[in-house]
Amino acid sequence: MNEAAKISCRGLRKSFGSLTVLDGLDLDVLGGETLVILGRSGSGKSVLIKHLNVLLRPDAGSVMFEGRDVTALREHQLVDVRLKVAMPFQAGALFDSLTIEENIAFPMNQHKVGTVAERRDRVTELLETVGLAGTHKRMPSELSGGMRKRAALARSLAVKPEVMLYDEPTTGLDPVTGHQINELIRSLQEQFGLTSIVVTHDLAGATFVADRMAFLYHGVIRKIGSVSEMCAESDPAVHEFFSLGNFRQP
Ligand SMILES: Nc1ncnc2c1ncn2[C@@H]1O[C@H](COP(=O)(O)OP(=O)(O)OP(=O)(O)O)[C@@H](O)[C@H]1O
Ligand SMILES: [Mg+2]
Repeated sequence: MNEAAKISCRGLRKSFGSLTVLDGLDLDVLGGETLVILGRSGSGKSVLIKHLNVLLRPDAGSVMFEGRDVTALREHQLVDVRLKVAMPFQAGALFDSLTIEENIAFPMNQHKVGTVAERRDRVTELLETVGLAGTHKRMPSELSGGMRKRAALARSLAVKPEVMLYDEPTTGLDPVTGHQINELIRSLQEQFGLTSIVVTHDLAGATFVADRMAFLYHGVIRKIGSVSEMCAESDPAVHEFFSLGNFRQP
């Protein structure tokens, strides 16, 4: 295994009935990098990242988090892993009946992090970090889509995760708001040294956030590398995707 890897997948296999989605996939996500996962619709990107925080379990193969195989852990042993590997935009990210402040404090209350006063200060600090200062008492329904994404990010950050899994973070947002979210993803990585995995169809955004890109094709990572390496690749499967995509080469 790669010593610098924060998360490693080896021989990952996952099928649903007769449909093979992951077919012996190997992947190393390096500590502190932002890795963008690209691939056609239905290629298995969401299925892959759900294996990284064990929302799904593989039929075969392993997912190592900091060198430890997490695929065989029981639910109660996964609490630790799930605190470290956050998925901020998983469906139902915010509770509609709670204020923004209560939403962000929720995981800290659940895991009894710090005193009540410390949690209050932390909520204020997190709202500032994501550019939502002063929205404590607002309800999620009173925020725009972009603001709700920021609030969901703040809530994930509350328990100090080390890895962020973003599944289509900018889908449904206008280009300006989408770019602001991409800037936030980048700045959180730099500020907190987060390891980030981003699944997206927003190719300009992918180029902006990515340290490396991985192309998922027929159940395996067909190619992984820098944006320019991906764009220069001659393998027809990779070339087709990257030549049709609107990649802004660095
Ligand atoms: N829980 C499930 N049960 C059965 N089939 C599933 C399940 N989850 C995913 N699949 C199937 O696995 C394949 C890969 O799905 P996945 O959602 O990972 O694609 P994706 O690459 O994320 O696509 P998109 O870019 O459209 O989001 C699809 O054919 C999907 O129908
Ligand atoms: Mg998906």
